[in-house]
Amino acid sequence: MGNNVSGFKIIYRKEVRIMTKPQTISVTAPAEEEFPKEKYDELEQFIDGMETTKGALIEILHKAQGIFGYLPRDVQLFIARKLGIPGAEVFGVVSFYSYFTTKPRGKHTISVCMGTACYVRGADKILEKMKEKLGIESNEITEDGLFTLKDVRCIGACGLAPVVMVDDKVFGRVKVEEVDDILNQYRK
Ligand code: FES
Repeated sequence: MGNNVSGFKIIYRKEVRIMTKPQTISVTAPAEEEFPKEKYDELEQFIDGMETTKGALIEILHKAQGIFGYLPRDVQLFIARKLGIPGAEVFGVVSFYSYFTTKPRGKHTISVCMGTACYVRGADKILEKMKEKLGIESNEITEDGLFTLKDVRCIGACGLAPVVMVDDKVFGRVKVEEVDDILNQYRK
């Protein structure tokens, strides 16, 4: 038993070393960025100022994403420790909601809806055009830091399919030929 336990420890340490390499980015173990203590202080003050943290995980994650720009693993673990809940619970919520991101985002987030209504009206071609024009894949950030590209599930505007959102602005009935125009609006 003792041997088994120490065996697990060795395996665990090896995994941690691999996962923290900058090249091996995964949802739960992104390359970590060092944040100034003030950002953690701001988040801590926000949490401490809440009447109750029960059922407030999503609100706290929203706040954290506003402060840090995204939700890297260290921030998720900080929240888990602060709330006294398992890290897995926080990871679960973060990965469930497409609003939350575990990677840094560009100045503008382009969300191409790949829900059924949009897909049957050519959303895949719009996504491909976006990738081609931006030179990135989904969930990546352009070199100039201006755009993050995401493919998302239905955003509830099926009547306007195919739909693209840039930040909070919705573009409906988008045609492939309009992709350049949309991007240029944010390139100024
Ligand atoms: S499927 Fe795209 S908005 Fe609903």
